[in-house]
Amino acid sequence: MIQKELPFKSLIIFSVILFSIESNGQTRPHLIKKGNAVQLVVNEKPYLILGGELGNSSASDMNYMRSLWPKMNELNLNTLLAPVYWELMEPEEGIFDFSLTDSLISEARKHKLKLVLLWFGSWKNSMSCYAPAWIKTNPTRFPRAKQKSGISTEILSPFYEENLLADIKAFRALMKHLALIDKNASTVIMVQVENEIGMIPEARDYSEKANEEFMKAVPEKLMKYLKENKEKLIPEFYNFWKAGGFKTSGNWEEVFGKSAATDEAFMALRFASYVEKVAAAGKTEYNIPMYVNAALIRAGYQPGQYPSAGPLPHLIDIWRTAAPSIDILAPDIYFPFIEEWCNKYHQSGNPLFIPEAKNEPEAAIKVFYAIGAHDGIGFSPFAIEQSDDTRKDPLRKSYDLLSQLTPLILENQGKGQIIGFIFDQNKKETEIQLGGYTLHIKHIFTLNYSPKALEKVWQMTGGIIICTGPGKYFIAGSGIVVTFEPEQKDGSIAGILSANQGRFENGVWKQGRRMNGDEDHQGRHIRIFDDNFEIQKVELYLYK
Ligand code: DGJ
Repeated sequence: MIQKELPFKSLIIFSVILFSIESNGQTRPHLIKKGNAVQLVVNEKPYLILGGELGNSSASDMNYMRSLWPKMNELNLNTLLAPVYWELMEPEEGIFDFSLTDSLISEARKHKLKLVLLWFGSWKNSMSCYAPAWIKTNPTRFPRAKQKSGISTEILSPFYEENLLADIKAFRALMKHLALIDKNASTVIMVQVENEIGMIPEARDYSEKANEEFMKAVPEKLMKYLKENKEKLIPEFYNFWKAGGFKTSGNWEEVFGKSAATDEAFMALRFASYVEKVAAAGKTEYNIPMYVNAALIRAGYQPGQYPSAGPLPHLIDIWRTAAPSIDILAPDIYFPFIEEWCNKYHQSGNPLFIPEAKNEPEAAIKVFYAIGAHDGIGFSPFAIEQSDDTRKDPLRKSYDLLSQLTPLILENQGKGQIIGFIFDQNKKETEIQLGGYTLHIKHIFTLNYSPKALEKVWQMTGGIIICTGPGKYFIAGSGIVVTFEPEQKDGSIAGILSANQGRFENGVWKQGRRMNGDEDHQGRHIRIFDDNFEIQKVELYLYK
């Protein structure tokens, strides 16, 4: 569908979490708070994203996409994350072509998938490579960020109104179009605004306007937020402010000192303010959840060496203050062990959603941790279409378990009744209290049953446990062994009353094998081998 955009109207900023009711009584996708968790609600029910993100160029050709849809179903995805490319959507200024988006939506519906759309607008992995040609070729009207030396970068400067207005106009047109074609079906459940924003190879923009702004006072709004929330600030940011002596007025270098970290904070505020205006304008047309994603920092890298000023953990306070229309700050985790980054993103009220994870066998395990340990909203390996043999992909198996468990997970999120864990050679075990017992959960290789236990590198294993009552659990995952100890210290011993392997079919538990004898070490542990993904329903009892 090609459409000419109507004149731009004034912006209305919506609150972060909004329960928006359509006139026909249907609710739009939205976020709700449930206990300590935040849940995404779609078609009036809580929803867990078992996702996968397409490689960057796949969604630019619907013929190319044709063979990919069945793969998504085979992998047991319920949601596909797919880009919307500004350059293809607005090839001429003010002339919009939504045909790719329309086709994505109709194919997703046919394949019973939901979509998260990724707005490849002003920035994609720092650069402005998806800006339309009429923007790229007119740097006088649409100025670039500059390096200290004066050299231009292929990054649109966030300091110039024309750049912002062009992005707002396009994004707003997209959201208006989505409202028109999708508000009753809610096939599109969330939108990512821009992609991995970040300054590189220097931490800040040295364009003329950027230099002017840098010399001005730190905006009062930020100073006020810092003063009012001093004790609640993210520790890294607190220490950064402290190092400058907790100053409450002055320009950026007067308040925070002269450093690349100050340059980064200055840029973060600007990027976040820009994104806020884009997101808020989009929400005036169609108010569904929106998030931004971040490229994470490699150990030892300094601002400027990594894409700086994006929604990184140490900048959460700045992003939250400047971009209230953004509901989630999300990490793209390509690192081997994800615990640290999940902890850094699941803080200060920010729910955990991982829109990009490395597409590798370990992704099938990491998802248990993200959802189980952090009440995660969802998980999504990147370049999902590149799976060679979807039928053998371990993700297919873990997504199968998680989709069976989804109603139970959603019912128990925010109540402290779900745990998740991952193990490898460096982290072989954990101990967690749940349902009146201490659960000792270990990597299956700690049993030494397998010759692979002698290998230096242990394959990643893990799982999720949902407690449904005292001593009652659903234990799911791969490569784990669990023993139990009562929390009460009166000499009681924990025994396994029953362990059943099984499946949920349409939400109803269908019992399979009774896992006793050799299978539970004659009542001493619950285990799932590393070549298997399964669910066991377990009940404990106490004896003396
Ligand atoms: C992170 C980006 O967000 C993706 O679009 C893609 O470029 C991947 N990196 C490639 O690893």
